[in-house]
Formats: sequence, C-alpha cells, structure tokens
Amino acid sequence: MIVRKFKPEDLKRVFEIENMSFDQSYGVDVFQGLYEMGVGFLVAEDEGYVVGYVIFWIKYENQGHIISIAVDKNYRRSHVGSQLLIKAISILSMLKINAIYLEVKENNTAAVEFYKTFNFKIDRVVANYYENGDAAIVMYLPINRGKVSAE
Ligand SMILES: CC(C)(COP(=O)(O)OP(=O)(O)OC[C@H]1O[C@@H](n2cnc3c(N)ncnc32)[C@H](O)[C@@H]1OP(=O)(O)O)[C@@H](O)C(=O)NCCC(=O)NCCS
Repeated sequence: MIVRKFKPEDLKRVFEIENMSFDQSYGVDVFQGLYEMGVGFLVAEDEGYVVGYVIFWIKYENQGHIISIAVDKNYRRSHVGSQLLIKAISILSMLKINAIYLEVKENNTAAVEFYKTFNFKIDRVVANYYENGDAAIVMYLPINRGKVSAE
C-alpha cells in the first residue's frame, strides 16, 4: 500500500469511494475543481487499485483543514485511513499552521473515533450544518510548528 499524489485518472475511483461513503456527494466536477485549485489531494493505492483518498488545504492563514477523507468499504479497519491522515497531517504541519480543523457528521461515530485516535479534540457542534439538517461536530488537532503531532 502506498500513499501518493492524486492524478486525474484516479477521478473515477475517488468518485466511487465517495459514493459508497457519504449520503451526499460532492460530484466529479468538484473533485476536478479542487485538484485544479491545487489543494492537497492524496490517494492510497493497493497493488495499483485506489482504495482511499484525502483532500486538505489551508483554509485560513494559520489553519489547516481536512476537506474529505474516505476509504473503500472493503479496505476499512486496515489502517488505510490512518496512513492517509498521517501524510496529510505531516504535509500540513510543515506549513505555518497552529491547528488542523475538520467537520464530521454528529452521528458518524466511526469517523469521530478515528479522529480521536489522532488526538483530534471536539471544538463545538454546529446545528444544521449539512444540507439535510444534520449537525456537524467540529474537531481540531493543535499543531506545534515544526513538529508532527500524529504518531
Ligand atoms: C473514517 C474512515 C476514513 C476511517 O478509515 P479506516 O481506514 O477504516 O481507519 P483505520 O483502519 O486507519 O482506523 C484507525 C483507528 O480508528 C478507529 N476506528 C476506525 N474506524 C472505526 C470504527 N468504525 N469504529 C470505531 N473505531 C474506529 C480505530 O481505533 C482504528 O484502529 P484499530 O482498527 O486498530 O482499532 C472510514 O471509516 C471511512 O471511509 N468512513 C466513511 C467516510 C467518512 O466518514 N469520512 C470521514 C468524514 S469526516
């Protein structure tokens, strides 16, 4: 399993993984647009097959942001997500940020547990964050400049 930069030919698989992972989809055009904007976009590849992705960027001057992360259902609980998140945290930590933020659906206990293993803390709950009215939990990971917090 390797983690590498996203390439346009990965788009179909990334979209498939997104579809099996979320109720609401960003859609292919949004992924394409994010890639063209130059955000951080990594995929996990197992023997040539894309099994997960992570998208991240600097949202505000001192704040990193995980836009999306997902792993193919058949490859979960094998630390694919961890490898993607570790790489994203490592890259963001090299930049001048104080923390990495993300939003997760309140009822997405798997993802909340996943982020907690990386020492992400709960910041606040935002009601009606998602289109369907679900609340979001905002989580953050403080970053010591020059040091990677993830193990
Ligand atoms: C969240 C997600 C990316 C995690 O990917 P993953 O590759 O399965 O996670 P890992 O195998 O790296 O898990 C690392 C640790 O996180 C925790 N964890 C992960 N999934 C969990 C679950 N379903 N329940 C409880 N803890 C979980 C565990 O502590 C796990 O370590 P362990 O398996 O050794 O016990 C994956 O479940 C997913 O794609 N979910 C759908 C999309 C999504 O919700 N993305 C996040 C949106 S904010």
